[in-house]
Amino acid sequence: MRVIAIDGPAGSGKSTVAKAVAERLGLPYLDTGAMYRAVAFAVLRSGGDPADEELAANTARSMELEVGLDRVMVNGTDATVEIRGPEVTRSVSLVAANPAVRVELVSRQREWAERRGGGVLEGRDIGTVVFPDAELKVYLTADAAERARRRAQEVTDLDYETVAADLARRDTLDSTREIDPLAEAPDAVMVDTTGLGVDEVVTEIARLLEEKQPS
Ligand code: DC
Repeated sequence: MRVIAIDGPAGSGKSTVAKAVAERLGLPYLDTGAMYRAVAFAVLRSGGDPADEELAANTARSMELEVGLDRVMVNGTDATVEIRGPEVTRSVSLVAANPAVRVELVSRQREWAERRGGGVLEGRDIGTVVFPDAELKVYLTADAAERARRRAQEVTDLDYETVAADLARRDTLDSTREIDPLAEAPDAVMVDTTGLGVDEVVTEIARLLEEKQPS
């Protein structure tokens, strides 16, 4: 099974890079952040509180979830746009810190890859927890100002200061939570994407893969 793990903080360029790497290698792609967002979405939609651990865990276990390349379906509803909205973004760190939610989603992620014979998975804990034996682990970073600038371009309805503050808040929550915090795997290759274009990063990852498989 061929698994490429791409981890890193929000705004490091993970999604764009992971999608491009998957395309170049002809492998399927999975955005695991969208899965945590989908749980937050489903809890909010049921009128529940994302801080309710039991509710969030039950929701994760029972939900029908389909994360496609450009569409996310949650219990038969198209949630593609709403999972990126401010309400979900505000509460997703709480859901991601819930151990029972993580157990369920990690198991779904492993199953997803096993069924497809591998894939490119992006997230926070792919190289450390989900696939510690991944063929290649990349840890993407970029300086905080650049990450906020990128995010602000994506979410056009929020100003730079708001985006930067939210990003800093989520960085802290994601890297200080007790269970599976955002961390670089010891055998991950760190790639700093500050000032680099997507093509340059993808080419670097392709080169790292070739280095691993001398022909
Ligand atoms: O990458 P993103 O912003 O869509 O991630 C949403 C949230 O989910 C973020 O708070 C980090 C968390 N997450 C996680 O804990 N583990 C993953 N594998 C992916 C995302």
